[in-house]
Amino acid sequence: MSQPELTREQIERLEGRYGNRFLLEPAPDDKLPRSGMTAQEAMRLIGEEMVLDGLPMRNLATFVTTWMEPEADRVIAESLHTNFIDHAEYPQTAEIEQRCIRMLADLFHAPGQTTGARTQGSSEAIMLGALSLKWSWRARREAAGKPTDRPNLVFGGDVHVVWEKFCRYFDVEPRIVPLAPDKYTIGPEDVHPHIDEHTIGVAAVLGTTFTGHADDIRGINDHLVALKHDHGLDVPMHVDAASGGFVWPFLYPDSHWDFRLEQVRSINVSGHKFGLVYPGIGWLVFRETSDLPEDLIFYENYLGKRDATFTLNFSTGSSMVLAQYYNFIRLGHSGYRYIMESMKYNARSLARQIADIGEFEIIGSEDDEQLPLVAFKLSDGHDYDEFDVAAQLASERGWMVPAYTLPPNAEHIKIMRILVKQTLSQSLARTLGSDIAQACATLDAKGRMHESDRKRVKTNTGF
Ligand SMILES: Cc1ncc(COP(=O)(O)O)c(C=O)c1O
Repeated sequence: MSQPELTREQIERLEGRYGNRFLLEPAPDDKLPRSGMTAQEAMRLIGEEMVLDGLPMRNLATFVTTWMEPEADRVIAESLHTNFIDHAEYPQTAEIEQRCIRMLADLFHAPGQTTGARTQGSSEAIMLGALSLKWSWRARREAAGKPTDRPNLVFGGDVHVVWEKFCRYFDVEPRIVPLAPDKYTIGPEDVHPHIDEHTIGVAAVLGTTFTGHADDIRGINDHLVALKHDHGLDVPMHVDAASGGFVWPFLYPDSHWDFRLEQVRSINVSGHKFGLVYPGIGWLVFRETSDLPEDLIFYENYLGKRDATFTLNFSTGSSMVLAQYYNFIRLGHSGYRYIMESMKYNARSLARQIADIGEFEIIGSEDDEQLPLVAFKLSDGHDYDEFDVAAQLASERGWMVPAYTLPPNAEHIKIMRILVKQTLSQSLARTLGSDIAQACATLDAKGRMHESDRKRVKTNTGF
């Protein structure tokens, strides 16, 4: 005789001993629950939900760090309970922030002692850097008795969205140089027609989000220097080195893009990208202390001590500052170089493997200065597109490779892009290469993906 099923009440009575109530109940998702649950139940519930997220190491769209050494994880875990902004209580953390800024200023060839800020990422650093450009421009105009009501900022269509965001939030006219079908970065001839006496600055990118190449920063600098000498128009440049700031100094040390160039007044870099720290850290570095306008600094009496802040956020954790310092002292110059060279090596061999499939064109050449990534597009004559390849690859092997269109006027060009980071070893990169070939073979045999499958593709450029 079969045993009778347990009733819901009977199961619940056993719950305390063998299980937890969320095996039978949905997760709280609208109101704060009337009563809580045990710590173990809460942890298990969240752990189960997280299974539905993607695997960070298979996310080949992101520039952001997905792995750090266990010792770094420990430094992070042990400082999760300190508030970075409380400099009075945590003066050594504040000192470590300053050490990081000094090291970066040195790496970027600042001519002397300077200043900077720890930020939440490059977006906050860019907002602060661009605000400094606006403030300095206004001060120069006021001193000359000229109007200050129509500031503009010049940059290319290859920038990250944060630059347009800055313009909208802080009331500056964006003057955006459009891209062209075979030109995905900008140079002096592009910015020239857009610059006038209302230009607060030019923003140039070192390592674009789209293809990983750099704007012609040296050429733009030379043009701005000529403008200054020939026409008395002093237009500063900010370099958005969100990704490139930790790549170029190690892979292309002789390439001049930083404070070695006269008009470069400020630089941002994301610690959480090729600085190799988990998300939540960016940096802004000025060429000289005077490039940070004094009235953007807030002095306050905090917990009994006079403190200076130059941030958009206030309270935040100390962990990522300490993690950045950990990487600086753990890796040093040769460690960063080793990691960047290994990523470049793996990116090159993956690019060759993808080229050998015979279906794709690689964007750029091995001689280009570029972030360690592979950007590629299908050659002509396919009845499926890059979005289909991305969807097929995701459904066959779970790789998250983005497909996206370029900004105007190259919006008809579709691209796929793979970030080759520390976690994509030679063996994984080879597997990925053959998975791409396999995805193409499947599409050749069965035709393009169904519209509903294409919806799952990652269609932004990654972060
Ligand atoms: C060139 C560039 N600038 C700015 C950003 C924004 O950086 P963050 O995510 O650190 O705020 C990114 C992010 O991908 C980027 O690639």
